[in-house]
Order: sequence, then structure tokens, then C-alpha cells
Amino acid sequence: MNQLSPEEKNNLPRHVALIMDGNGRWAKSRRMPRLFGHRKGVENVRSVVNTAKEVGVPYITLYAFSTENQNRPREEKSGLMKLLEEFLKKEIRSMMEDGIRLRAIGDLSGLPDFARDIVENTIEQTKGNKNWNLTLALNYGSRQEVLRAIARYNRDHSSTPHLPKWDDFSPYLETGDLPDPDLIIRTSGEFRLSNFLLLQAAYAEIFVSPLHWPDFDRNAFIEALANYARRERRFGKTSEQIHQPIHTS
Ligand code: IPE
Ligand code: IPE
Ligand code: MG
Repeated sequence: MNQLSPEEKNNLPRHVALIMDGNGRWAKSRRMPRLFGHRKGVENVRSVVNTAKEVGVPYITLYAFSTENQNRPREEKSGLMKLLEEFLKKEIRSMMEDGIRLRAIGDLSGLPDFARDIVENTIEQTKGNKNWNLTLALNYGSRQEVLRAIARYNRDHSSTPHLPKWDDFSPYLETGDLPDPDLIIRTSGEFRLSNFLLLQAAYAEIFVSPLHWPDFDRNAFIEALANYARRERRFGKTSEQIHQPIHTS
């Protein structure tokens, strides 16, 4: 598949979040070291961002490094951080040209100084860009994010203990200025969220691709978008209500 039909184009997600999994297996199947797979994986980010621009998906979020990935071997972690630095150095120009705003979610204090510095500088440099939104989840875990959000919420509402309304609490999540993801794509055939956007994904559609991340090309992304476009999102209502809105009040 390489094109979306006009109907599919009318039904695209606004926010796609991708769990970029399978770099290690991709490399292993070629008898190459895991970091070779990560390098190929980083190269693939550009193709996904380009496809998002081509079809008009304004928000892309990429799960790049999880809280639990901190338990990987030291050489793999430092290799990943160097790849992150290389990626941002290389992409800053096209981000400015294309109007891409970079954001990050996750605990950046747990990154090495050089990586945190370039992430923060790129966020600062691109903060006026308004066309597209690229968010990197770095040292990110949803449970940890929620605990940080509760602490921040309590700091601002210290007067009396109370049960917050969701709309008052959700801005304290690190995704506070992003819409909820409409579609979550995971590559490499794994059917799990691995601590990614657990609350934000409450009504996200989930698509699992059998391809390893370095092989998840434009056509695979288009196929996921077309699959999404054909689904009916009911948000708890009945199918009939979706087609003929009934006033419930
Ligand atoms: C995803 O690929 C990248 C990161 C988690 C950083 P993996 O490294 O998890 O690849 P597999 O799952 O071992 O194949
Ligand atoms: C999820 O992949 C994290 C990222 C893609 C950054 P993992 O490979 O770490 O997930 P598990 O361990 O298989 O659940
Ligand atoms: Mg994995």
C-alpha cells in the first residue's frame, strides 16, 4: 500500500505515538551488534516524520528510551545517547526549515549531561515552530510520570485534600500541551505498552506491526494509518449513537 484514499485521508489521527521496538532483533538477524540496529532505527525516524508531514499528521511521539531501559548494559545505553546527540545535531536544520517543534517527556535528569544539554537546546531553539510536533520519550515511564504529576499537582493545590477532576489533573502530565494519542503503533509484533502513555492511551487505537523498527517504512506507516481510518471509535457510546448522535441530556 502506498496511497491513502480520500476517505482515509479524512479520518487520520491527529497524534500518533510509536513504540520503536525491534532494533536488537533486526541486528541479530543480520549477525550484527545491537547498536547497528539502533543506528538503523534512528535513521528510520526521518522517514516516519516525513510521512507524517506528507499525509498531515501534526503530532508524532516516539518512545526512544524507557525508564526500564536504564537496566540495559552500559555500552548499549551510552551508544543510544550518542545516537540521540548525533540525530539532533543532524536534524536541527530541517526541523527549523520544516517548522517542527521538538518536545521531550520523561525524566531528563537521568540522561548524561551532553545528551540532556542537546535535547534542552533543541527544545529551546524549536519552541517557536508551529507546523509539526515531534516529542521524544526519553528516560520515560508512564508510572513515574504520573507520580511526578501528582507531586506537582499537590504542590499547587496544597490547601485541602480533594479528588481532582481529570481535566484539572491531566495538564500536570508531561504531555500537558499535547492531545491524547489517537493511534499507538508498536513494531516488532509485541502486544504490550511497556509503561508508555498508560493514561493518555485510555482511548487510543492500537496497531501492532510485525516489522522490526528499522524496516517500518513509509508503506508500513501508511498501512497503519489506513487501518486506523477504517475503525469506529466509540468512546463508550453505541455504534448507533456515533452514526446518529442522540442527545442524552
Ligand atoms: C527498541 O529496540 C529500541 C529501544 C528500546 C531503545 P530494542 O533494543 O528493544 O530491540 P529488541 O526488542 O531487543 O529487538
Ligand atoms: C519499549 O521497548 C521501550 C522503547 C521502545 C523505548 P522495550 O524493548 O524496552 O520493551 P520490552 O522490555 O520488550 O517490554
Ligand atoms: Mg525491545
